[in-house]
Amino acid sequence: MARSKKTKPKGKPANLTIETLLTENRVFKPNPVFVKQANLRDSAVLRKAASDPEGFWAEMAGELVWNKKWSQVLEWKAPDAKWFAGGKLNVTETCLDQHLTNGRKNKAALIWEGEPGDKRTLTYYALWKQVNKFANALKGLGVGKGDRVAIYLPMIPELIVSMLACARIGAIHSVVFGGFSPESLRDRINDAGAKLLITADGGYRRGQIIPLKHDADVALADCPTIESVVIVKRGDFLLRVKEGRDHWYHRLMQEAKSYCPPVQMGSEDPLFILYTSGSTGKPKGIWHTCGGYLTGVYATSKYVFDLKDNDVFWCTADCGWVTGHSYITYGPLANGATQVMYEGAPDWPDPDRFWQIVSENGVTIFYTAPTAIRAFMRWGKEWPDKHDLSTLRLLGSVGEPINPEAWIWYHEVIGKERCPIVDTWWQTETGHILITPIPGITSTKPGSATHAFPGISAVVLDEKGNVVKEGGGYLAITKPWPGMLRGIWGDRQRFVDTYWTKWPGIYFPGDGAKIDKDGYIWILGRVDDVINTAGHRISTMEVESALVEHASVVEAAVVGIPHELKGEALAAFVTLGKGIIGDQKLSGQLKDHVARKIGALAKPDKIIFSADLPKTRSGKIMRRLLRDIAAGKVMGDTTTLADPDVISRIKKRYEEE
Ligand code: WTA
Repeated sequence: MARSKKTKPKGKPANLTIETLLTENRVFKPNPVFVKQANLRDSAVLRKAASDPEGFWAEMAGELVWNKKWSQVLEWKAPDAKWFAGGKLNVTETCLDQHLTNGRKNKAALIWEGEPGDKRTLTYYALWKQVNKFANALKGLGVGKGDRVAIYLPMIPELIVSMLACARIGAIHSVVFGGFSPESLRDRINDAGAKLLITADGGYRRGQIIPLKHDADVALADCPTIESVVIVKRGDFLLRVKEGRDHWYHRLMQEAKSYCPPVQMGSEDPLFILYTSGSTGKPKGIWHTCGGYLTGVYATSKYVFDLKDNDVFWCTADCGWVTGHSYITYGPLANGATQVMYEGAPDWPDPDRFWQIVSENGVTIFYTAPTAIRAFMRWGKEWPDKHDLSTLRLLGSVGEPINPEAWIWYHEVIGKERCPIVDTWWQTETGHILITPIPGITSTKPGSATHAFPGISAVVLDEKGNVVKEGGGYLAITKPWPGMLRGIWGDRQRFVDTYWTKWPGIYFPGDGAKIDKDGYIWILGRVDDVINTAGHRISTMEVESALVEHASVVEAAVVGIPHELKGEALAAFVTLGKGIIGDQKLSGQLKDHVARKIGALAKPDKIIFSADLPKTRSGKIMRRLLRDIAAGKVMGDTTTLADPDVISRIKKRYEEE
């Protein structure tokens, strides 16, 4: 790629401040070699999509397998959208069945590698067959259209088989990330009213065994809707089997019939629920539909990742997150791609595990998160340099703002200045990528997600809803798009309040953004009480309520603090009960307590014991001030504080930590 300007931006990695971004003015034009072969290189398509977004999406939807064509592309009555209403489809026919007759039957769909080094390759035919059989097994356990199925599995092929088997029979899957605690699993199962749980005896992570079935049993003690459990045998891990309720996956598969007719679903029928953190304590069950969602993930996989038949695509996300849903399970399979899937940690047994997998399988497209890129930077370029990365032709980033230094490192050390980088902005709620470079067309700027995908209308607005032409404000999506969430499971009011009341009829994603003079969008991070740590969304309230549940804690306030690798880490300001001493031991106990309640990903990095917290006269904790203390910033306005001295006392405690 050609670099047109060299100016070193100021600022440390991960400190993606507006000031840093303002100094970032390097531009990278699309590589002509890439452009020549790109799936999308004609900017007339972009102009056409801008003037007729519905026409663009209808064209994309037309490339999927439909059993009955839709009668209307879009019905829009804010905040409710119906895409391709009247259409009937089963998403597995696009993801699997069509490939049995279009020349891809014996093509590798999944090249899987377990953390201990075990390997399996599933062709499209083999994957299709397993999905059919497991769909029949689920049917045999009484699961049907509209039923909810919870999935709590490691990154093994059975996770994808399970998701697709649900889709085959019209059941709604709710995947819960294997790193979540039993309590988090329980709450998600109960909120969705799931009938069946699919789990495994265990999984591997950094050489350790994660006892999923054991954790699931803890959760299931309090899940009245669960009738059956299916256990995948991943290792030889000890577990208890509850007669009548628990079934071994491999036994069910032995008995299951090979073909399961795909249940024809309405385009607007639910495909899945996925829980994500919001600014209040309770996770939100974001739900997506069949027709619109599949159209969105199909189109973005094709044009953002430029997928071709001879590519080897690797998205390093876990299917417990939306990235794994859209860019492992649904988008790439709808495109008939070959994918790598890996179970474990990037530094196990050594920090070159990813690069070894890239070179061994000839990965051509690699999609990961900035937090991982920063970890690679810290481990040193000698690790990727040990491997042949010459097969790579496109790199992607997702999950949080990528700081320009990490972008440049990715570009130089991994992409060898040859591979375009697509910095893709989207959310669990948006279903698919909405803001991204188109690699054969867009000139990129390190740290900017650039422009809206064709058919998407993204702008920066001020508080009142006026368009900001240049400068900072809030990101907003002004027109409906096919993969948009259709609701929060069981909570219509929260759906309306969270996303649709800031400006009527306009989607508010909760991110701050800046637009520059060339119309490039720079995402600045969350503006609500959600912390994006290592690319994962954690609600401060959720961690606070976990902390106050601990017997020694009276009050807690959690804020995000800049972190070199994770982007943001959690700092908890904690007030203890009378006479309780806040020492190292208690600090460790509280961290473990949060890990047990929510999952290790929510563990605070810092616990600051403080006799009191800054409050307004009406008793509201002023998190803004705590954030300032944690960031070592000059204090903002403290005139509304009930006790102005509290700040200097907390500051002292923080500095001592
Ligand atoms: C953040 C992950 C900057 C953002 C797909 C968003 C990003 C939240 C980017 C959604 C990006 C995601 N640049 N920020 N390229 N991608 N984000 O639901 O704050 O886990 O609102 O979906 O991640 O996180 P979620």
